[in-house]
Amino acid sequence: MNRSSAPLPALRVCTPGGNYDIVIARGALTDPRAWAGLPAAQQAVIVSNVAVAPLYAATLQQALAPHYARVSLLQLPDGEEHKTWETLNLVFDHLLGSGCDRKTVLFALGGGVIGDMTGFAAACYMRGVPFVQVPTTLLAQVDSSVGGKTAINHPRGKNMIGAFHQPQRVVCDLATLDTLPQRELAAGLAEVIKYGPIADADFLGWIEAKLPALLARDADALAHAIGRSCEIKAWVVGQDEREAGLRAILNFGHTFGHAIEAALGYGQWLHGEAVACGMLMASALSARLGLVPQGFVDRMQALLERCGLPTRAPAIGSARFIELMRIDKKAEGGEIRFVLIEAPGHAIVRAAPDALVREVIECHGGARAS
Ligand code: NAD
Ligand code: GLY
Repeated sequence: MNRSSAPLPALRVCTPGGNYDIVIARGALTDPRAWAGLPAAQQAVIVSNVAVAPLYAATLQQALAPHYARVSLLQLPDGEEHKTWETLNLVFDHLLGSGCDRKTVLFALGGGVIGDMTGFAAACYMRGVPFVQVPTTLLAQVDSSVGGKTAINHPRGKNMIGAFHQPQRVVCDLATLDTLPQRELAAGLAEVIKYGPIADADFLGWIEAKLPALLARDADALAHAIGRSCEIKAWVVGQDEREAGLRAILNFGHTFGHAIEAALGYGQWLHGEAVACGMLMASALSARLGLVPQGFVDRMQALLERCGLPTRAPAIGSARFIELMRIDKKAEGGEIRFVLIEAPGHAIVRAAPDALVREVIECHGGARAS
């Protein structure tokens, strides 16, 4: 079978908001099969940033040229601190300035910041246009590009303004990870690790065994990690697209993590770094509630440390930490709800006494130095 007739490896995501493929292949950007069969339109717009566009936009523009009469490129500023209304408006300025209509297809080329903002712009522009995720970070390939959550940050809370809007397709080209800085790779590994404790104990063991290969960017190891992560995410999102219940488990570590990001200022810690520290704190809270033995916490700490991910929280102060966590989207009536681990592979969502939460913050360095 030649390259043009064999189907590309893909996983299917099925949600009430739309069914679509996640294509996972090295070289997908230049493979015509990755781009066939998308919604027809006169125009396509590639939304990227000033760091990623010079690396991959020309290749994507070339790949899309046979399908659209005009393919324009918008380069946004780079960084979590730019995931704002002001930057979102630059997308609308470009779409309106280019005469984009309701059929125009947006292509999000970049990490989770670009994916979340482009998806949100697509959800809003003319009350909704199609978009395609082309994730270029490990974090975006294993998590943010799948499932249709789109958002921008508010100074008071992470991802607080957004919409559910499913992409038409997700195209992961594993070769784009070759240029990813090592710190970003490690941050992406945090979200890969997440899937083990919440859904697949065997996968957690596999990650522990294969960590040297993952950190060395071994192609087979990365392909398996991305494929299994996307399978789990597709399974969860397929059952609970709008986070009525089950989907909340994907936020393991995020309640503590989002508070760290908001307290320090977006972009100080990488999202995956904050999630890593948050997963350890949520594991410790699970142990204090008697759900898992301390050995599980030690196991998580050892794995995160091997990745070079932070396991000590910044000294935000317990009161501020708790105040920020009350703004979390899972909070109900001001009561913080945490994703906790009952056993490797099994997560639950529940509240915890403030006193225990404070103990965990203090034990992990989050209390203000006196
Ligand atoms: P990011 O988008 O900021 O990308 C990280 C950095 O890597 C940026 O500087 C980017 O320009 C650069 N980069 C991207 N691809 C590159 C490449 N191939 N080579 C070299 N440099 C490259 O960060 P991220 O970690 O990808 O995403 C984090 C964001 O994702 C956060 O805003 C988080 O809230 C969001 N997120 C959303 C979901 C969701 O379900 N929607 C899930 C998880 C995370
Ligand atoms: N990353 C959390 C979610 O997609 O629900």
